[in-house]
Amino acid sequence: MFKCSQHMKNLTGPCFSNTISITRNQNVLAQEKVIDNAMKSLAEIPKPKSLPILGTFLDYTKFEGFEVGNIAEFYKSRFEHLGPIFKENILPGLTDMTVYCSSPQDNETMFRTEGKLANRDPIAVLKFSREKLGIPTGLVNIQGEEWYTLRKIVNKHFLSNSSVWSYDKELHEVSDDFVEYISQNLDSNNEVPNFRLALNKWALEGAGTFCLDTRFGMFSEKTDENLQLIVDNTALLFDLLTELNFAPPVWRYFETKKIKALKKCQAVQLEAISKQRDRMMEKVKHKNDKDLTKLEILVTKKDLPDSEVAILISDMLGGGVDTTSNAAAFMLYVLAINPEKQEILREEIKNALQSDKVDGMSLQRMKYLHACVLEAQRMFPLTVGTTRRLLQDTILSGYLVPKGTKVIMLSNVMNGQNPAYFEDPETYLPERWLQRNPNIKFAMTGSFGIGARACPGRKFAMQEVHYLLISVLSRFKLQYNYKPIKA
Ligand code: HEM
Repeated sequence: MFKCSQHMKNLTGPCFSNTISITRNQNVLAQEKVIDNAMKSLAEIPKPKSLPILGTFLDYTKFEGFEVGNIAEFYKSRFEHLGPIFKENILPGLTDMTVYCSSPQDNETMFRTEGKLANRDPIAVLKFSREKLGIPTGLVNIQGEEWYTLRKIVNKHFLSNSSVWSYDKELHEVSDDFVEYISQNLDSNNEVPNFRLALNKWALEGAGTFCLDTRFGMFSEKTDENLQLIVDNTALLFDLLTELNFAPPVWRYFETKKIKALKKCQAVQLEAISKQRDRMMEKVKHKNDKDLTKLEILVTKKDLPDSEVAILISDMLGGGVDTTSNAAAFMLYVLAINPEKQEILREEIKNALQSDKVDGMSLQRMKYLHACVLEAQRMFPLTVGTTRRLLQDTILSGYLVPKGTKVIMLSNVMNGQNPAYFEDPETYLPERWLQRNPNIKFAMTGSFGIGARACPGRKFAMQEVHYLLISVLSRFKLQYNYKPIKA
């Protein structure tokens, strides 16, 4: 028996990105026609009460009862008061007027009209600190053709099936090591005392394999000093970014302690990553081209300028550790509280292990496994929504929203629990994903976002979670004996 003793953080929805494959052109033409007789303007979109200078800033303070952990509830209440689309400028002068939408039709319009250069605002404080350090600002922060060129290179390693599947043995081993680790760390109640930490180690190990072709050694007694530097500074970077992102951007005007720390930890992390890359280069010298791993090809074959390599790996580690461990945490939680579904999945896993070699390709045939993951993400969306900066005038819910406006699609929060899209939404029902349901197409933007800028790590993340479930359920029964966790 295995019980999770930790309360897991509430955060995100299913990945529809692979299921959305319609061409965009028809919709662009349709949009152009409608724009000619557009009825309502941006000015007419409903907005919450706001103060002359402070905008709606006070709503986002503890003073008004706001908590980052309850952001989904906060937005739900905005939509309930204002309807399926609203606009808001949190702190005029420092932030932009932003449009929030939630309807499937608006998601579809956004997807079909975003074009190949899909624009998402940079992580301002990360971009700022990298500019100050005089280094490239990285995939997450760049836009336009520059982004498109880099993203095409990244997609070759991170999104091609042959590349993702070539890491299946390593990722299966990581999950087996996780299971071994927890079995050795169970307490007298058969609980894992710090389950979050264990999952974090697992996610780091997974990311280590496909971002650096190495194991960090998180489950061993001793780690390589340089790899430990990468691990420590990746965690610190994530924490600092979270803190700085949710605070007023004072760092734009003053060299605050936090911004200094952010710059320092990036410098240390990048140096350690570069050292690790040098080790890879050394290994590559003694290999034939045909034996190179996909990552070795990516970082040594000059597709990518030298100056970009460490930043890209930093961004990949930054994007792929906490997110994946949260996905795994919610996944295990819903199975623990739904023992009959856990049993069905265990049976599928047992059959697969008996009759097949379990690898990247055969995982695709494990339909119930996939459905269990999608359903967990519907109930616990890992991200509240998807953000874009419009590259053309666009009609959303009948309003003409001008080019340049920031739009946040919050359908994960609004529709994942809505019976209009998901019958009996409170029930964990993986079976609903085993049949086609046109009603849910575009109902959510999913955990990984949509379109050209959707998460490049999604296939790796899903492969990691699939192997985790295979390893854990082959060895343990999951139980959870604490207060229910809210999405
Ligand atoms: C369950 C785990 C994960 C979740 C929920 C997640 C979620 C997301 C989301 C919502 C976005 C924004 C997409 C959009 O704007 O449409 C994103 C972008 C990104 N993710 Fe992930 N992600 C996960 C795992 C990973 C992994 C494993 C990696 C690295 C291998 C990664 C690297 C990135 C990067 C670099 C971006 C920015 C891409 C760009 O701007 O072109 N993520 N992710």
